[in-house]
Amino acid sequence: MGSEGIRVRGLEREFKGGIRAVDGIDLDVAPGEIYGFLGPNGAGKSTTVLMLVTLLPPTGGSATVAGFDVASRGADVRRMIGAALQEAALDDFLTGWEHMDLQGGLHGMNRQQARTRGGELLDRVGLSDAADRKVGGYSGGMKRRLDLALALIHRPRVLFLDEPTTGLDPQSRSALWTEVERLAREEGVTVFLTTQYLEEADVLAGRVGIIDRGRIVAEGTPSALKAQIGHVSLEAVPVRPDDRERLRAALAPFGEPAAHSPRGEAVRLGGGAEQLADVVRALDTAGIDVAELQLHQPSLDDVFLEKTGRSLEGTDDDEAAAPEPSAA
Ligand SMILES: Nc1ncnc2c1ncn2[C@@H]1O[C@H](COP(=O)(O)OP(=O)(O)OP(=O)(O)O)[C@@H](O)[C@H]1O
Ligand SMILES: [Mg+2]
Repeated sequence: MGSEGIRVRGLEREFKGGIRAVDGIDLDVAPGEIYGFLGPNGAGKSTTVLMLVTLLPPTGGSATVAGFDVASRGADVRRMIGAALQEAALDDFLTGWEHMDLQGGLHGMNRQQARTRGGELLDRVGLSDAADRKVGGYSGGMKRRLDLALALIHRPRVLFLDEPTTGLDPQSRSALWTEVERLAREEGVTVFLTTQYLEEADVLAGRVGIIDRGRIVAEGTPSALKAQIGHVSLEAVPVRPDDRERLRAALAPFGEPAAHSPRGEAVRLGGGAEQLADVVRALDTAGIDVAELQLHQPSLDDVFLEKTGRSLEGTDDDEAAAPEPSAA
């Protein structure tokens, strides 16, 4: 593995009380690659990131970041990396500029250097106009973008982003995707990004690792992972909610149950999309009126379901997922 990538072997973190938040993971991220670390609440994503950025010591295994061991070469690791953690460490009483000055100082830049680089970054994340305002008045999306800009001030070679777009509106989300993609492609920055959003991993990541309960349950390019599943699913939503049971029975002969929306039922079509006409005939024969009928190509959620027996979206383990932003 090149000196600007990430290499993880048997990494573990056990918390007091015996919780194995990270339970022996292996992964490699190549220099300049965007690696998506996908998993539900409590899967162990942040714990992994905290170990890789040297804020939390591993209790087992090893990891090198940019060629340096996280346990024994922490200062070297920190020099090479930038991190925007899940809880952005911003001070409501400081302005965007003041944050830049502080962050620059932390990395040994003088005020002039910090101003030049800071101005460039504030501009790139679209905060130039807000840079003189106190952060307390920023929206959630603006704080996220400032946090990203701060993480970049010293031109890190490896960037860690822990759920960078959770709570962002679709526009801010795609702006952040564009910037992360540009960093990797044009500047060769290695990116380790955690997310609960399948779409985010799909769009952005060259490779994806799916983590569940501290273990990596699947890894590969999004298309390779989906190809492993290799089947189309069909979802139907009945006009009358009472028909759910009968709908399920009518679909059963066509394949195994698949992930579906709250009002629908779905099956993996064993025989592929050509079965659609047969399904329509069967529903018609059974006298079930259908409000919606959709074919779904395999998704990363199907991969997750296949590997864990549970659905990634809508997992309701210990905490509720972060609420989706409502449309403004
Ligand atoms: N400091 C801690 N002490 C004890 N347990 C912890 C601590 N930090 C995390 N855990 C536990 O470790 C597990 C993994 O937590 P982690 O924060 O890594 O999950 P996550 O994948 O980042 O979830 P989310 O999507 O909600 O951010 C959870 O069961 C959590 O309760
Ligand atoms: Mg987390």
